[in-house]
Amino acid sequence: MLKVFTHAIKILFAKWPTANVAFFLLLIGSCQSTSKQLTANHAMVVSARHEASNIGVEVMKKGGNAFDAFFAVQLALSVAHPNAGNVGGGGFMVYRLANGETGTLDFREKAPMAAHKDMYLDAHGEVIPNSSTLGVLAVGVPGSVDGIYTAHNRFGSIPTHALIEEVIQLAAKGVVVTQKQAESLANLVDVSTAINGVHSKFSKPYKEGDTIQYPAFVNTLKLLQKGGRDAFYKGELAKKMIEFLKSHGGIITLKDLDKYKSVWRKAIEFEYKGHKIISMPPPSSGGVCLAQMLKMTEKFEINRWKHHSLEHIQLLTEIERRSFADRNHFLGDPDFIEMPIEGMLHQSYLDKRMENFTLKEATPSSMVAHGNPIQLIESNETTHFSIVDPFGNAVAVTTTLNGNYGSKLFDDNLGFFYNNEMDDFSVKIGVPNMFGLTGTTANAIAPEKRMLSSMTPTIVEKNQELFLVLGTPGGSTIITSVLQTILNVIDFEMDIEQAVSSPRFHHQWLPDQILFEPEKFDPKLFEKLRLKGYKINEGKAQIIGKVDAIMRTPSGQYKSGADPRGDDSAAGF
Ligand code: DON
Repeated sequence: MLKVFTHAIKILFAKWPTANVAFFLLLIGSCQSTSKQLTANHAMVVSARHEASNIGVEVMKKGGNAFDAFFAVQLALSVAHPNAGNVGGGGFMVYRLANGETGTLDFREKAPMAAHKDMYLDAHGEVIPNSSTLGVLAVGVPGSVDGIYTAHNRFGSIPTHALIEEVIQLAAKGVVVTQKQAESLANLVDVSTAINGVHSKFSKPYKEGDTIQYPAFVNTLKLLQKGGRDAFYKGELAKKMIEFLKSHGGIITLKDLDKYKSVWRKAIEFEYKGHKIISMPPPSSGGVCLAQMLKMTEKFEINRWKHHSLEHIQLLTEIERRSFADRNHFLGDPDFIEMPIEGMLHQSYLDKRMENFTLKEATPSSMVAHGNPIQLIESNETTHFSIVDPFGNAVAVTTTLNGNYGSKLFDDNLGFFYNNEMDDFSVKIGVPNMFGLTGTTANAIAPEKRMLSSMTPTIVEKNQELFLVLGTPGGSTIITSVLQTILNVIDFEMDIEQAVSSPRFHHQWLPDQILFEPEKFDPKLFEKLRLKGYKINEGKAQIIGKVDAIMRTPSGQYKSGADPRGDDSAAGF
């Protein structure tokens, strides 16, 4: 790499006037702290956009910690990556402090108080198309702003005023549209016009290289600077939001906003082959499913099979199938329902679930219902960012509007999108949501309940030290992307960049099919899988996840895994 670089510089000097070369070198110099593959000695942020990663790193250069960086990066992504970065959505944060203490913060959206079980059904009990995904009725009470302030109150060190100032600069200056973003924004134009009207900010296309400025969001940020968390949940911003949502026929009230509170929850923690995995508990299914899947995998020496061999794919497909069947049946908001989590994670239960596993043929999903853990033990966009700070703290945050640009409802006065998280509830038993996930009463809609999630922000320890910080968007494929990235590192001994880039596949019980990233797997493999009874879906131009990860090396350096599938980018120092 260095050789190629030196060669390129020599050619440049030979062909270009010195002034141009100096400019070129300056450009490289100014970019070198941000990239897909980066090694840093002190601190690092890997996120969906370099603007957000840079802001997080700047905060830490000024003495801030991972929680200050979380605050700033979450806000920065609202402008740098508005299809998922948000103040109008929610998310989860998993942390590990330098002293080894761990925990999680749940800032997931909640159903409004006026929500009810059948709110998306017509008079015949059928689901009204798009009602839980598009427009104002799809919106859950946003949790992100409460989340960043709650985390900051407990762990932050730099005044929020200064952190917001960094983002104001970015929102005012604007963000340059990338090629991927231009494509995504082009797909938004028609639906934005239908929902927000022709004059709305995203009802027109932007092309690669355009700069999008966010003056309305600058004002929103200034109100946050002045009024803090309460500006959003009780004060001027709250009033403006409710006025806007009501004018579109929404049901969220000032009382809903006022009552919103994020919740500190104990992390799901378990061992896998000598590593400690720390992940998100319900209302995310991420940590429970990841634990089930890794515990079902542990007794197999999967690295005696080739990576992406028939056997490797079969084993993961079968454990994923079994875990998702449990997920869809048992999991929901812990503040509303009882869940047999201890039973679901008990080794003897999981061994029993795998009793009928065979490499001879697929186990059809129709033969795999949810298990019975209580008796047994009797006794379409999200975004993830990973942060490590110079003090040794680590933070893994997955945050979302749910679909790409959420409900597509854009508040032109306040400058942000609202989520469509209500679709993560089971709107009718057995009817799949936008990720094809079905559910039962465990995840039925109820006032103030949190909808079940698959988001899996995760931290891994090795020898009691920080080892990995990771997570990804991808709806139901989040869990299996995090799983495969961890297995790639621990069992297949890949470096983090390879582990993140490696093609992925996914099974979620129903629909009974293995989803593969397109054109990445050998078609002969598909033939062999079909012969064993597996149904193949080669992803129709669909990528699976965009993992943003950090690995700590034995010498204490940080290495980035910024997913090449997106504009994702690492920054560090
Ligand atoms: O919480 C969940 O599981 C979903 N709302 C996540 C949505 C998502 O990842 C969309 N990204 N591609």
